Amino acid sequence: MSKRDFLDTGFSTRAVHVGQDPDPETGAVIPPLHATSTFVQKEFGQPGKYIYSRSGNPTRSALEANLAALESAQHGIAFASGCAATDSIMRLLPPGSHVIAGTDLYGGTYRLFEQVLRDTGLNFEYVDTTQVDAISAAWRDETAMVYIETPTNPLMAMTDLRAVADLTRERDVRLVVDNTFMSPYLQRPLEHGADLVLHSTTKYINGHSDSIGGVVMTNDDDDAERLVFLAKSVGATLSPFEAWLIQRGVKTLAVRMDRSQDTTERIVDLLVEHPKVERVYYPGLESHPQHELAKRQMDGFGGMVAFEVADMDAVKRLLDSLTVFTLAESLGGVETLISNPASMTHASIPKEEREARGVRDGLIRISVGIEDADDLIADLSQGLERL
Ligand SMILES: Cc1ncc(COP(=O)(O)O)c(C=O)c1O
Repeated sequence: MSKRDFLDTGFSTRAVHVGQDPDPETGAVIPPLHATSTFVQKEFGQPGKYIYSRSGNPTRSALEANLAALESAQHGIAFASGCAATDSIMRLLPPGSHVIAGTDLYGGTYRLFEQVLRDTGLNFEYVDTTQVDAISAAWRDETAMVYIETPTNPLMAMTDLRAVADLTRERDVRLVVDNTFMSPYLQRPLEHGADLVLHSTTKYINGHSDSIGGVVMTNDDDDAERLVFLAKSVGATLSPFEAWLIQRGVKTLAVRMDRSQDTTERIVDLLVEHPKVERVYYPGLESHPQHELAKRQMDGFGGMVAFEVADMDAVKRLLDSLTVFTLAESLGGVETLISNPASMTHASIPKEEREARGVRDGLIRISVGIEDADDLIADLSQGLERL
């Protein structure tokens, strides 16, 4: 056992130490990876703490304790992916429930809601949750959950978590926040009244684009117990290997995020000044309509930025000219990723609807990594000069 639990320490100290006691037998500073499906029972009828890895595994438990400590949560339950985490949260609801969800959700979440969970008797309604009144207007007797992402992808629009939590608390329904975009380092929705927080750990938490995983965090004992039960019953649990990798990644989360944010500021400065860039979407800009809210509910403005150039031709010219930026979907890794939502992540949304949401052809999204800022700035500058 460690000499202390580290729960009263700063973010990075917790990230490095919570659940990470050195191995008592060997003294290994890094706890071992428990790659096992089952656990010996030393005596008949006397199983130990762990029985079978679908139900529980020490490497996974260590990660769950670590992530919960970062998100101001009592409980963390790890899943095989962010989508599996969302699916399990939805299984907390009885059939017939009405869910108010944000219009700007990750496409895979929308697909899960519409093409899988609707058939199980859940009813989803999409509203612009940046307007709290829109949530009140959509309310029904059967409303059992509000499900949001803030900031949204790719336009970085924000929902006032405290205002929505006041509404959901008053009516005794769950507020769920997908916090993937910010990571617990920059935003902790449970502190603003949310009931459940989920992450695709695939993104910032793991941070190295080399694993898929998800986690749900909560302070509600009953929901936590049910989620643990669902995880073991359905079996969409995180493997020990993935848990070990994610644990290694999360230890550097704050350092990666700080670096990414510093570089993002420089990239934003370049974009704002450039004559061929028509609009820049970044909550750190004073011109962002919710800049004040961003300052209030986040501890930084993050490493995601979107901007607009004239049209798809300009997008192609710019993206094909970059050599340090990687043209790919996803986000939150150490490498800077750049994408065109209209033709990539949001291509499945009809053009008219997409444009009505503000996702025009010329929109480009960047997830800023940790390469040298000078190299990224030089690469982007030469690309913009071709427009
Ligand atoms: C905001 C957000 N939530 C959830 C997911 C789903 O996560 P996963 O790919 O780990 O299933 C993603 C994936 O891109 C995402 O961007």
